[in-house]
Amino acid sequence: MAPISINSKLPDTGTSVFTIMSALATEHKAINLGQGFPDFPMDARLVALVNEAMKNNFNQYAPMQGHPPLRDVLAEKVQSLYGTVVNPDTQITITPGGTYAIYTSLTTVLQPGDEVIVFEPAYDSYIPNVVINGAVPVRIDLKFPEYKIDWNEVRQRITPRTRMIMLNSPHNPTGAVLDEADIAALRALVKDTNILILSDEVYEHLIFDGIAHQSILRHPDLLERSFVCFSFGKVYHCTGWKLGYCIAGAELMKEFRKVHQFNCFSCHTPSQVALATFLKDKDSYLSLGPFLQQKRDYFQELMRQTRFTPLPSYGSYFQCYTYERISTEGDKELAKRITREYGVASIPVSAFYQSGKDDKVVRFCFAKKEATLASAVERLVKIP
Ligand SMILES: Cc1ncc(COP(=O)(O)O)c(C=O)c1O
Repeated sequence: MAPISINSKLPDTGTSVFTIMSALATEHKAINLGQGFPDFPMDARLVALVNEAMKNNFNQYAPMQGHPPLRDVLAEKVQSLYGTVVNPDTQITITPGGTYAIYTSLTTVLQPGDEVIVFEPAYDSYIPNVVINGAVPVRIDLKFPEYKIDWNEVRQRITPRTRMIMLNSPHNPTGAVLDEADIAALRALVKDTNILILSDEVYEHLIFDGIAHQSILRHPDLLERSFVCFSFGKVYHCTGWKLGYCIAGAELMKEFRKVHQFNCFSCHTPSQVALATFLKDKDSYLSLGPFLQQKRDYFQELMRQTRFTPLPSYGSYFQCYTYERISTEGDKELAKRITREYGVASIPVSAFYQSGKDDKVVRFCFAKKEATLASAVERLVKIP
């Protein structure tokens, strides 16, 4: 029998750093501040609402676009938070998670040879999602240590083949956020072009210090050319639900749904029914920023006893630290050593660069119980 052979569509992809660090954390019984998931319980009211939906027989396929009352409440939320009217029938689709929404957006529009601008450090799915569609990632570094976008550099890297710019605010892994000047620069750059925007806003609401989230949804002119992707799992502390949504210009959404309907088709019904009720209470999302800010502040305060140096975190689940007072090791070596020797797992930020660029920064996830954060820091203070 002839051996089976396949040409890998992602020949350069290996085991992700999250898998490696989580396995190392398990092996050494370390406290895992690496992977971005909460260790505290999600809101009990939302759990009860899912139970209720199941008992009420919401257990069959939801419509392909998503449960209509959920799309309605999302449209109301967008209007009240960002002042923009989106049509729930033509512009919102519920997806199995934010990553799926991003993948589907790219698959909907990318043709072989298209160029996509991706800022690094970048969430690990972006570049493989571009490559698997035969498109070409154009990688631009965010400027260390603020992790700001250099818009002049972006302008210089645009070519006639540029199809899309990918944005992420609040940003994983750095906690950086876009400001109004960024949006103005983006608008100036795409005006009168055919360039599309993918805006990953899965950490919407998880933004601190009274800063306003600069959602693309504030700008109907930009939304027309954008896919904006969200995650219920991330913001409502139930990452295992893998439920999210995409809001896009109506023309883009029409095409998005063509891809979506032949892939997952429709998403878990009881969770959608539950969220449709839960989101009617504005506090369900308005309370999230202050809740997580308290965790960031608690973690930062404790970490002052250690020899790590904080970088700013304005949003997301994450806080990055440099460690020049600890060692000159590369970030991967340091992260692994601290897991092995001190029992705390983090993520080396070089893993978010294709080139492995190492600014000697590690990322900690502070979306954890106070007791978990306190135990982790008790260990980290011991590092000389
Ligand atoms: C920037 C970013 N985008 C998307 C996602 C994925 O969201 P989901 O779990 O809903 O697929 C994550 C999760 O870590 C993320 O950090």
